[in-house]
Amino acid sequence: MIPDNKSPAALIDALSAEHRALLPELARLAQEASASAESLKTAVERIAPLIGLPLDEHIATEDRELFPAYAARGGDAGILAFFTAEHVEILAIRNRLLAAIEDNDHTEAVGFLAEQLADTLSSHMNREDEVLFPAMRDLL
Ligand SMILES: [Fe+2]
Ligand SMILES: [Fe+2]
Repeated sequence: MIPDNKSPAALIDALSAEHRALLPELARLAQEASASAESLKTAVERIAPLIGLPLDEHIATEDRELFPAYAARGGDAGILAFFTAEHVEILAIRNRLLAAIEDNDHTEAVGFLAEQLADTLSSHMNREDEVLFPAMRDLL
């Protein structure tokens, strides 16, 4: 969890550090998503604490603190709307995946959801680090 009252630069540093911690875990999840139903369940249960409340808090920090600060400085509203929409999509996939594991769903859909989460969230975080955050650092 990221403490309040951070400067925008410190906020971006903290968010990027959370990306760096999560990216290898998502790569591992994607790898294991194609294995047996049992190993997939183990993989999802291992990553669940990272993609539960901490992911909600990470996204809330971006949506409620960082993005409004950027918008207030005249940052591109279109790009913010795009990343905000991805947050909604990411959390929806996450919720479906965790619910399926809780329900002991053994269908292929669970593996698909795990791969979809790994791909969507990794790509999102990489684009934040490579495109959005550098643009924010220039303006904030
Ligand atoms: Fe984000
Ligand atoms: Fe992020």
